[in-house]
Amino acid sequence: VRALREGPGCTLEVIDQTKLPFALEWKTLRTAEETAVAIKTMVIRGAPLIGVAGAYGLALGLRGGELAVHYELLKATRPTAVNLAWALDRVRAAVEPLPAAQRFERAWKEAGAIAAAESDACKRIGQAGLPFFAKAKNVLTHCNAGWLATGDWGTALAPLYAAKESGVPLHVWVDETRPRNQGTLTAWELGQGGVPHTLIADNAGGLLMQRGQVDACIVGADRIAANGDVCNKVGTYLKALAAHDNHVPFYVAAPVSTIDVSLASGADIPIEERGGDEVRAWNGVALVPPEVKVANPAFDVTPAKYVTALITERGVVPATREGIARLFT
Ligand code: MRU
Repeated sequence: VRALREGPGCTLEVIDQTKLPFALEWKTLRTAEETAVAIKTMVIRGAPLIGVAGAYGLALGLRGGELAVHYELLKATRPTAVNLAWALDRVRAAVEPLPAAQRFERAWKEAGAIAAAESDACKRIGQAGLPFFAKAKNVLTHCNAGWLATGDWGTALAPLYAAKESGVPLHVWVDETRPRNQGTLTAWELGQGGVPHTLIADNAGGLLMQRGQVDACIVGADRIAANGDVCNKVGTYLKALAAHDNHVPFYVAAPVSTIDVSLASGADIPIEERGGDEVRAWNGVALVPPEVKVANPAFDVTPAKYVTALITERGVVPATREGIARLFT
């Protein structure tokens, strides 16, 4: 997200992720409404990035608009990644005590602070996670938790970029991640960064683990409950089960803004149910006739017991209530 100010004009320039990996196109967002549509339609996606974009979107809405109306509009776009609500709450808390005329400036500043902090968090996650990948040859990841999803470095990809920078000869197995195929974004990102990688169909990971071709798994997260249960892109849970069965470490990398200590366990996390057409067709090509009934849950919950460690900007902790509590003391 590039936040631009020229005279009285303020805009957000965002990469249109629906056009990748074939075209790198930027889109301009001028209002809270346009930002909400971009988040809902996944022009912008990824837990930390929708937090940052939501914060700027709320600022845009405060140029003459109502705080509560734009807060609710943006919050309703996507329910699972807590980063969005967390960032909107932060901006709201910063502007609420102020008179309407001062709110936009304060909100824009707060959004900038959130963006900078999330970017810094990703860099720290990279350094904190690096030791786990210093000897790994083959790493598997699911979805896209790189800089496209966060603004800088990424969460799950940050330690892999750090490993590449330190000369570790890593190769990454990239899950395709049906139905939105965020793995194609990861493949594109890794290609840009010169990290060797291979795109695989989602169901191939288990076989690769059985064959000893995966040394470690690392994924991002959209919300982590107080007990360490991890909600991430649908399909993550199956990879964690396969990793557990094959004694492959399974790491989760996320900033603390992704941890929702108000939820006792993953069972309380709202799982977004997306439209059936995402499954019925790909890029306008129908896979089944339109009357075929479809279910499309976008996330799943991996129980904490399958998570080897949580890698955060405040350090690496076990995925337990005590480990998480340590991050907040
Ligand atoms: O539905 P998306 O593409 O917005 O999914 C969110 C994610 O990017 C992932 O679940 C990711 O693994 C964690 S966010 C870096």
